[in-house]
Parts: sequence; C-alpha cells; structure tokens
Amino acid sequence: MSTRTLFLLPGDGIGPEAMAEVVKIIDHMNTDAGAGFVTDTGLVGGSAYDAHGAAISDADMAKAMAADAVLFGAVGGPKWDDVPYEARPEAGLLRLRKDMQLFANLRPAICYPALSAASSLKPELVEGLDILIVRELTGGVYFGEPKEIIDLGNGQKRGIDTQVYDTYEIERIAGVAFELARTRSNRVCSMEKRNVMKSGVLWNQVVTASHKEKYSDVQLDHMLADAGGMQLVRQPKQFDVIVTDNLFGDMLSDVASMLTGSLGMLPSASLGAPDETTGKRKAMYEPVHGSAPDIAGRGIANPIAMIASFAMCLRYSFNMIAEADRLEKAIANVLDQGIRTGDIMAPGARQVGTNEMGDAILAEFKALS
Ligand code: NAI
Ligand code: MG
Repeated sequence: MSTRTLFLLPGDGIGPEAMAEVVKIIDHMNTDAGAGFVTDTGLVGGSAYDAHGAAISDADMAKAMAADAVLFGAVGGPKWDDVPYEARPEAGLLRLRKDMQLFANLRPAICYPALSAASSLKPELVEGLDILIVRELTGGVYFGEPKEIIDLGNGQKRGIDTQVYDTYEIERIAGVAFELARTRSNRVCSMEKRNVMKSGVLWNQVVTASHKEKYSDVQLDHMLADAGGMQLVRQPKQFDVIVTDNLFGDMLSDVASMLTGSLGMLPSASLGAPDETTGKRKAMYEPVHGSAPDIAGRGIANPIAMIASFAMCLRYSFNMIAEADRLEKAIANVLDQGIRTGDIMAPGARQVGTNEMGDAILAEFKALS
C-alpha cells in the first residue's frame, strides 16, 4: 500500500468546521478503500499566532514543505485585527505560497445544475459551465520592483507598481495550462493586453512558442484580457482553460466564480514546479472563501468548497481521477436531492448544517463506489 501524506492546516473561524468534513472522507477512504492517507495537522493564521506569536511556525512550515499536499482551511478574524503586520493571519498563507513556490493558481468555475438559478446570469448561459482559470501567482505587478510611493517634492506623490514577467515564468504557467487542457476539453485561451503592455507582448510570444513546440495538439486562442472579461459574462461556455497573469487572473477568476453561485462552493488549488527527481509538484488546496467570522462556531458553514478542494487534491496531487470524479458527482447529487446549507438555500429545499451536509456527501460518495 502506498503512503500519501497530507498536511492539514484548518486555520481560523469556519476553517476547522469545514476541514472536519474532509477528514471524515479521508477516514472513510483509508478504512474502506485502503487509500493510505497519512495526515498530520498544524496551526496557521490567528490560531498559530495565539500559540506561538507567528502566523505559521517554522516546524509547521517544514511539514508543509515535506507533505505530498497541504489542505488549507481559512485564516483571519476580528480577534487578530491589531496584531503586528508581519504576524497577521494572512502572512501564514503568503509564506506558504512563497516558500512552496506555488506559481500556478487553479480556480474552477463549475455550475452545478441544481444551482444554475442562483447564478447572476440566465440559467441557460451557465448550465453545464465548467471553466478552469489558471492564474500566474508568484510574478507580475504584485511582486515586480520598483514598488513604492515616492515624494516628488512639489506636493505630489507617485505610486509605482511594476509588471515584470520573464520567459521561464510564462513558459511554466503555460505548460500547466496546456497539460490540464489535455485532461479536459483540450482548449486553452491565453489572455493578456499585448496592445498596450510589453509584458503582454512577451506573454503572447512565449505562449505561442511553447504551444508550437510542445502542445500543438491543444487548441490555443488568444484574447485581450478586457475582451475576455466581457466574454466571460456574455458567453462563458465558450471557454475551457483560461491562462492569464497574476493581476488579470485575480479579477477574472473572481468574475468567473460569481457566475456559479455562493462563495461556499468554490475550491482552488495552487501548484508548484515538479520535483526534479520525483516529478511530484508541491501543492496546496483551499476554498476561495475566508474564515467567515459572522457565522463561525454555529455549525452552519457550507463545507462544499473545502470538500471540492479535496477533490482537486485527489485529481492533481494523487492522480486519483475516479475518486475525484466520484466525490464531485456526490456533491452534485446531494444538491440535486435538495439538501442545502443556508448560503445556497432555495425554496422547497431542505436546510442542513455543516455536519449534515458533510454526512450527506459522504453517504453519496459511498453509494457511488
Ligand atoms: P469570507 O469569505 O470569510 O466571508 C464573506 C461572506 O460569505 C460572509 O458573509 C460569510 O458568512 C459568507 N461565507 C463565506 N464562506 C462561507 C461558507 N463556506 N458557507 C457559508 N457562508 C460563507 O470573507 P470576509 O468576510 O471578507 O473575511 C473574513 C475573514 O477572512 C477576514 O479576516 C479575511 O481577512 C479572511 N479571509 C481569509 C481568506 C483565506 O484564508 N484564504 C480569504 C478571504 C478572506
Ligand atoms: Mg481576489
């Protein structure tokens, strides 16, 4: 039996409540299917700050680096609003992304049939929607130097951010997008602003070259990022995989996610480069939502985003495709049965808490095996 190591960082607020529902699924897969998951749990965010004054300890950071995959809940809350900037809860998340070099952020936008009426668009535009946005996460304007506010001495100041992309950064994110497209509908749309940005010109050239060299079996289209935003809300089903830079990806993935309903439904993955000897990628999986302090501790949070993040983990870190498909199908079936947490409640549906939603998904997952 192979061993699969998972490092769990439940975090703050509803993070631990959602993570508990994933643990039930892991336990079931171990006992009933011999999946061989070995889990360890650490502290991140405010709970880590309370325990040892930092948003993640060096010891937990080392465990995250060594694990096959990290499952992350959520961090933050009003309790830690006044902690020093370097120790604020988000610093734990940023350190994980930086030290693990998680350069590829995967944000699926999937519209479950039972929830198509909850979309901000007409149901027929989103029914069956299944897009994957691949956002570059460690480069671009959020990190480029210089990055500062300078005093011009004439009563004016100047704020500067710098968009920088090197060939290798574009190549590796394009590679992730093309490889993922091959496991889906085999189409990639690359978005930049080559009409007004030099980094956009380079982005377009590098994606085109790497397509020609290694991925010519995949259909590649290019779109200006602003037009892409328009198309996402006009005719979203035209897209399969979208690959774009850090800034455009931040905005476009938020737009795409709202086509599909509640924050409580949205998973994500962040991947690093493959290890040179083992070929394994460092990876972290987390819901898009935060710690939801307004509902924390009440047992009413929607655990689906966390459970769907675990499905991505099965798919991308462990190549357990059948199990990932089955878990996603279990989520869809439970929604079809009209079982809902408060955030996705609809007339005639049965409202349940976090626990019951997790149990219903686990029962359906078992029934499908
Ligand atoms: P949030 O995502 O925590 O909550 C926004 C709204 O959505 C709230 O009304 C909340 O109750 C609801 N919501 C979120 N997830 C839900 C779920 N699973 N089920 C049902 N309802 C859900 O964002 P907010 O309120 O802006 O931030 C709260 C805290 O979380 C802050 O400290 C913020 O810094 C932190 N945060 C952390 C993130 C992370 O750990 N990755 C991401 C976003 C925010
Ligand atoms: Mg964002």
